[in-house]
Amino acid sequence: MKRIGILTSGGDCAGLNAIIRAVVCRAAGGYGWKVMGIRQATQGLMSDPPQIMALEPDKVDHLLTMGGTILGTTNKGDPFAFPMPDGTVRDRSEDIIAGYRQLGLDAIIGIGGDGSLAILRRIAQQGDLNLVAIPKTIDNDIGITENSIGFDTAVNIATEALDRLHFTAASHSRVMILEVMGRDAGHIAISAGIAGGADVVLIPEIAYTLENVCQQIQERQSQGKNYCLIVVSEAVCTPDGETVTNTNALGQCRLGGIGQHLADQISACIGAETRVTVLGHTQRGGIPSPLDRLTASAFGVAAVELIAEGLYDRMVTWQNRQVVSVPIAEAISYYRAVDPNGTLVKTARGLGICLGD
Ligand code: F6P
Repeated sequence: MKRIGILTSGGDCAGLNAIIRAVVCRAAGGYGWKVMGIRQATQGLMSDPPQIMALEPDKVDHLLTMGGTILGTTNKGDPFAFPMPDGTVRDRSEDIIAGYRQLGLDAIIGIGGDGSLAILRRIAQQGDLNLVAIPKTIDNDIGITENSIGFDTAVNIATEALDRLHFTAASHSRVMILEVMGRDAGHIAISAGIAGGADVVLIPEIAYTLENVCQQIQERQSQGKNYCLIVVSEAVCTPDGETVTNTNALGQCRLGGIGQHLADQISACIGAETRVTVLGHTQRGGIPSPLDRLTASAFGVAAVELIAEGLYDRMVTWQNRQVVSVPIAEAISYYRAVDPNGTLVKTARGLGICLGD
């Protein structure tokens, strides 16, 4: 009987629990293996004893629709330079390898974005651990897979927000700005912008000018359309090339604030009444969409089959309507931004959506 571990790493998103459920159903329910959930990403393995949660098939049904991750996760603390309570920094990679051995694992399934998966792979290589990876990120920037877990739910949430903003924007004759996540990629913005009928979509991949945005608003006004919906991705730079960020009381710096910056610019330029909605982490929470549940289920089952076949150092991906696996090293080296000449950009332009350029 194999013993496998599963962990979620990096920022959470909708669909992580659905993956855990699928893995447990197939590995424990199907093959009769023991599945151990590792708590708090690699931090659960570096603890002595390792922090785990037993996962059994009759206890995971409810996970299909549950947001977040029951295992907990973190995107803080690179194990190779781990911040210790005494203020020093230590390489904890060997502690993680020791945790894997202490649990007697035959393999581990790591669910993460490109950054977390790169770290997990480095540890697996160092300790000769059997790793299988599953891609998740609302940013959808892992280029090798058409779908990463969490993206579809985030697009659904942003689209629904636009649907709601339409009515209040029209009622008050306002310019409504919706700031969405996505880090350096504009996938959420352009997808939700098209699906939600936005008039302007600003993404990091295409530089905007204030004049072009204001012109779109005024053109709509001249057509009797007294309101305007703008979607802006959090990493969009100002026309001066600045990335807008904010820092909390702990000194943590985060993307965010371009929406308000843009609103102020537009009001100053054409006197339009503006309001800003920052969706923030609502895009990562909540019930996963049917597509994310489906992808999560397919990825979870496929990851277990890789282990059954003894195929390691591979990531499951969605390509051409099916799940295939690729070497993790190849998968994480292929970053995907929005293609300025691709279908989504062409569609947006074809619909008359202003992209700011
Ligand atoms: O990578 C996922 C993501 O949600 C980005 O879209 C966003 O910029 C970032 O994580 C937010 O991270 P945190 O949860 O640390 O605020």
